[in-house]
Amino acid sequence: MAAGWQQLAVAPLFFLLLLLLSGVLTLPLGGENKRTPTCGYESCHATKPNMLNVHLVPHTHDDVGWLKTVDQYFYGDRNDIQHAGVQYILDSVVDQLLKNPDRRFIYVETAFFYRWWKRQSSGEQQTVKQLVNEGRLEFVNGGWCMSDEATTHYSAVVDQMTMGLRFLNETFGPCGRPRVAWHIDPFGHAREHASMFAQMGYDGFFFGRLDYQDRTRRMLAQEQELLWRASDSLAPPMADLFTGILPNGYNPPEGFCWDQSCDDPPIRDDPDLEDYNVDDVVMRFLAIAKSQATAYKTNHIIMTMGSDFQYENANLWYKNLDKLIRYVNARQGNGSRVNVVYSTPSCYLQELHRANLTWALKTDDFFPYADSAHDFWTGYFTSRPALKRYERVSNSHLQTCNQLEVLGGPVSRNGPFGEGNSQTMKKAMAVAQHHDAVSGTEKQHVANDYARRLADGWRHCQVLVSNSLAALTGSSAKRIYCDNLNISVCPLTESSKKFSVSVYNPLARPVTWPVRLPVNGTAYTVSDAKGQPVDCQVVPVSRATREVRKNRGFAINELVFQVQAPPLGFSTYSVSLLQDGPPPAAATKHRAPTAIQNKFLRVTFDPDTGLLSSLSNLETGQSISLTQNFYWYNASDGNNSESDQPSGAYIFRPNSSTPFVISQRAKTETVQNSVVQEVRQWFAPWVSQVVRLYSDSRALELEWTVGPLPIDDSLGKEVITRLDTSIKTCEMFYTDSNGREVLQRKKDFRPTWNLKQSEPIAGNYYPINSRAFIKDDKDQLTVVTDRSQGGGSIHNGSLEIMLHRRLLYDDVRGVAEPLNETSAIFPEGLVVRGRLLLSLERPPAAADAHRPLAQEAVLQPLLTFVDGGLSPDTRLEFSGLQAALPPAVHLLTLTQWDGDSVLLRLEHQFQSRESRVNSQPVTVNLQKLFSTLEVIGVSEMNLSANQWKDEMIRFAWTPQTDSEAPPPKASGDASSTWEVTLRPMEIRTFLLRVALR
Ligand SMILES: *[C@@H]1O[C@H](CO)[C@@H](O)[C@H](O)[C@H]1NC(C)=O
Ligand SMILES: [Zn+2]
Repeated sequence: MAAGWQQLAVAPLFFLLLLLLSGVLTLPLGGENKRTPTCGYESCHATKPNMLNVHLVPHTHDDVGWLKTVDQYFYGDRNDIQHAGVQYILDSVVDQLLKNPDRRFIYVETAFFYRWWKRQSSGEQQTVKQLVNEGRLEFVNGGWCMSDEATTHYSAVVDQMTMGLRFLNETFGPCGRPRVAWHIDPFGHAREHASMFAQMGYDGFFFGRLDYQDRTRRMLAQEQELLWRASDSLAPPMADLFTGILPNGYNPPEGFCWDQSCDDPPIRDDPDLEDYNVDDVVMRFLAIAKSQATAYKTNHIIMTMGSDFQYENANLWYKNLDKLIRYVNARQGNGSRVNVVYSTPSCYLQELHRANLTWALKTDDFFPYADSAHDFWTGYFTSRPALKRYERVSNSHLQTCNQLEVLGGPVSRNGPFGEGNSQTMKKAMAVAQHHDAVSGTEKQHVANDYARRLADGWRHCQVLVSNSLAALTGSSAKRIYCDNLNISVCPLTESSKKFSVSVYNPLARPVTWPVRLPVNGTAYTVSDAKGQPVDCQVVPVSRATREVRKNRGFAINELVFQVQAPPLGFSTYSVSLLQDGPPPAAATKHRAPTAIQNKFLRVTFDPDTGLLSSLSNLETGQSISLTQNFYWYNASDGNNSESDQPSGAYIFRPNSSTPFVISQRAKTETVQNSVVQEVRQWFAPWVSQVVRLYSDSRALELEWTVGPLPIDDSLGKEVITRLDTSIKTCEMFYTDSNGREVLQRKKDFRPTWNLKQSEPIAGNYYPINSRAFIKDDKDQLTVVTDRSQGGGSIHNGSLEIMLHRRLLYDDVRGVAEPLNETSAIFPEGLVVRGRLLLSLERPPAAADAHRPLAQEAVLQPLLTFVDGGLSPDTRLEFSGLQAALPPAVHLLTLTQWDGDSVLLRLEHQFQSRESRVNSQPVTVNLQKLFSTLEVIGVSEMNLSANQWKDEMIRFAWTPQTDSEAPPPKASGDASSTWEVTLRPMEIRTFLLRVALR
């Protein structure tokens, strides 16, 4: 408070003007003020049009887990690892904001703010509300966390943003709505994130990290502020996002860090005392401000005054910032043309908008990120592959859990099996999106904590699912879950003579899916929900599976059959044992196969090496040569003449561009029956693969098992699978962005600057979130992944994907641990299993195949088991929809919102011009959607569901060059409010009021 009045003495007119403009007259809070306080843009401090205005943005960057777990960070526990305690930061900042109404603070991570808010008294909450209402405390970004951009799937990002922004709206109303997206730390930036932020209603976006060459060029060209056109399909300005690159990462300028964790000199302003330094501080500050201004276009610049976990003792920062503002502005009396204000990113953005300039247009993305010549942050695309898979499959379970909570009604949350909820899983998934979570750049104990939270989420969802299925089937028989089917472990199916399996399909169209169950019998009968027999076969459990499951299960065989499940529904299959004993002797053959095929695909193998040799699509008559093998890059250990950078959790740096082959040949075993054909390849004690073709599948499955990576030779290893084909790729390949739109990648090339390539492998790696493809005029080979991975196309016709990494050195980006994953069950190093799905199509029709395929990989059926026979009145089949949605439409979200409303997101899952058939607008009737729910009311919302769609008004920005034709008519509606039309890549979000039919 004192500082505010001192400022009044220094610049009375300015301060008075400010009071009038901002309506901030409340000293103390809730005082005599008759004016209504304002938040948002109106609460910004006035600036001076004919001066250089410096926006000081006090902020803290609070990782939702990294070196410590999210809760250790919140409480300030384990300060021996890192001194950081978010609860104290918020306590201290609120105290300091109350002392001077000029002060500003932004807060970003709702996971922390929520924890803190819950523990405040109602009086304290009231005080904080007032600070928010006056724009003194402002939320930016506002999702549960600041998500990673390379390794997250859009479905989970939309969910975590929705959760954080909903809390802010419900707690603070419109003043809690962030205007700006703020991703100051993620290690590269995805175009799909920009598209999502635009559709969430943000006016602008700021970040800190980009390639050092890109930064240099942009500084010279004054293009650090730009307009990002983040979609090829959505009509501008729907996916246009104004983007600002911060001047100094997210740190304060050199010499101006006044946190307790910093050593810069405080402002010593008493001339009677020793070391008076005001003149020195002001001169240094003016020099920095003027130099920074040369790289930006307007007479406004931004300085981020804060950093990781700063402001625990906010007095240090604010006391010095008050003085800095006072003394720098006092120079205006002597002709200085620099004006300093407390500000926020949105206040800065507002000034850029007022400048009414045109901005450089960008249509590609900011991957990969390098901070110098040999330091490419492309390792984390693959780091911690097991956690990445667990996160992805957890998203699938969460969507199922959300849907069944809606379809089963309130009894799902409290029913025959007790209390279940989806909330635990929602929160666990939300923290897992953080840029040190699914990215794999956290310490080992923190990775374990994320996994534990997900497991906890699964448990609560399983109770909910059991309750919901009891309501929907009319049977309260106990449901068993088998979470370890991927390693052939399920005690029920291994021992039971009669059981049933229900397959829940979270997709809005019917899906056929293979099921493999661990069993010990040799012959079974399987019948479907109508009592019809289903073709089933028994095959022996492979050696690789026995080795990876260790002594967690003992099944000798797997029962394999294909199931079908209706849209948003389940189908139940009954299984009975016919015969015990070992598998039929003829089940496997040890000679090398020459080919396997079904009615769609044919795959051949080289009889000498056992490796794949060709792939043909029998419907289109296409055929390509295709060799696949496993290799490892020798991770740089830092002892290198060019640079001492080692490979680590973040950074990929092979010490040679030529990877070592793991084995020139594979030992093989073949299984061929009416349901599945597979060639089991064994390359080394730590690398094996199954090449698999189910009878009804249009995709070839490559199930890889890699690990423990040997390190007894003291060499770090980064294992890839490489597909070498006859496709003429001309140095190009394609990768998806966060699981949605696809970007073209060209070797040793960046679309917006002249790249000087310094890492021939790591500098050509890109994030693959759900798919990558290579193509020429005739053939497109698409690879759908089951988790995020890094990959590249280094040679003509070739596509490589990094599967697993094990490293012996830290890469000096702060995590301070080598990425060397072990566990209690795998003290010798983690073994990771996953699958790639390959589809070969004619390029114009390829999306018709890979869009649904990728969707099936993301949203998998959930299997539940019931031992013994089912009572005769059990409902065996159910669909939550009246009819399947059209092939172009994906049901992205169906989740309970409150008592009588549900949140629904419908998505057009094709890009424009991607498919002749499917890249067309498509209309869905909301009233005719659900089989069990009557839709009574509908309101459309923005993508993050924190604003009504018709209230979403964003700043308009003009690009420098705009060759685009005028946009087609924005999404309007067809005939009635119930009919919604989706254009390519459009996601529409609805709040539906519903009643059970
Ligand atoms: C924001 O929260 C308020 C208070 O709970 C609620 O009435 C309003 O509908 C919410 N707005 C949106 C867009 O959800
Ligand atoms: Zn961070």
